[in-house]
Amino acid sequence: MHSTPPFPATSALVFGGSRGIGAAIGERLAREGHAVALTYVSRPDKAAEVVARIQASGGQAIALQADSANADAISNAAAEAVHHFGPLQVAVVNAGVYRGSPLDQFPLETFDQMLAVNVRGVFLAIQEAAKRMRDGGRIITIGSNTAVRGGIVGSSVYAMTKAAVATLVRELALDLAPRRITINNIQPGPIETDITSGFLDMVVARSPAKRVGRPEEVAALAAYLAGDDASYMTGTSLTLDGGWVI
Ligand SMILES: NC(=O)c1ccc[n+]([C@@H]2O[C@H](COP(=O)([O-])OP(=O)(O)OC[C@H]3O[C@@H](n4cnc5c(N)ncnc54)[C@H](OP(=O)(O)O)[C@@H]3O)[C@@H](O)[C@H]2O)c1
Repeated sequence: MHSTPPFPATSALVFGGSRGIGAAIGERLAREGHAVALTYVSRPDKAAEVVARIQASGGQAIALQADSANADAISNAAAEAVHHFGPLQVAVVNAGVYRGSPLDQFPLETFDQMLAVNVRGVFLAIQEAAKRMRDGGRIITIGSNTAVRGGIVGSSVYAMTKAAVATLVRELALDLAPRRITINNIQPGPIETDITSGFLDMVVARSPAKRVGRPEEVAALAAYLAGDDASYMTGTSLTLDGGWVI
């Protein structure tokens, strides 16, 4: 006699999954068979669209409002994801903000906001996800190729936050290794999302590949890192940028 399992076979939590790269990763992981919980902060409409697309393709998904600048919100979202879909197999820490400004005009509030979401929020999301993850699970962060080389005036603080993510991932690999949890960081170059919508022409002109990347290309690398073939890879940062940093 068959009994219905209490949870799907695997579950994934995507922090910042309502738009852009995070949405593409959530949809890709759903196609790979994961039940997907995704967080958003300001766009419930976009989050609902991602959930609807996953469900229309036969997958399972829920959207959770959780500001990555808020520690309790991150913890509650992780708990809620597990409540719905069981212990995590995959966590993707994608939520991030870009605010550019030259040094002499850089507002301290902007500095604090970027640190809160792009660094503190990333650390907390990893911590809260790891607590609720199966042994052998996967954590993937979304950094940026600006951690290697930026070269755009005004991007200094953003680049610093992404360099912090790369270092955090490298060192946390040691904390997580005894549980066979891998953690890796994808460093995209310019990808066509709301973040780059204002300066696409400039990045296309500067890019060696003469194009921007697509969110689905980042999602493909995330799917690899989330899969069985990547079980020996941990602590690394993989740059995906059409040669921008060369
Ligand atoms: N696009 C690029 O060229 C590029 C290049 C390198 C790295 N990245 C990195 O890739 C990640 C995603 O970028 P994207 O271009 O896809 O950005 P995006 O289109 O602006 O989407 C950002 C996503 O993060 C969520 N988010 C933002 N702030 C949040 C917060 N405080 N709490 C929870 N969720 C939050 C947004 O939720 P809402 O929809 O609710 O606002 C949205 O789902 C970021 O970490 C970014 O730094 C992007």
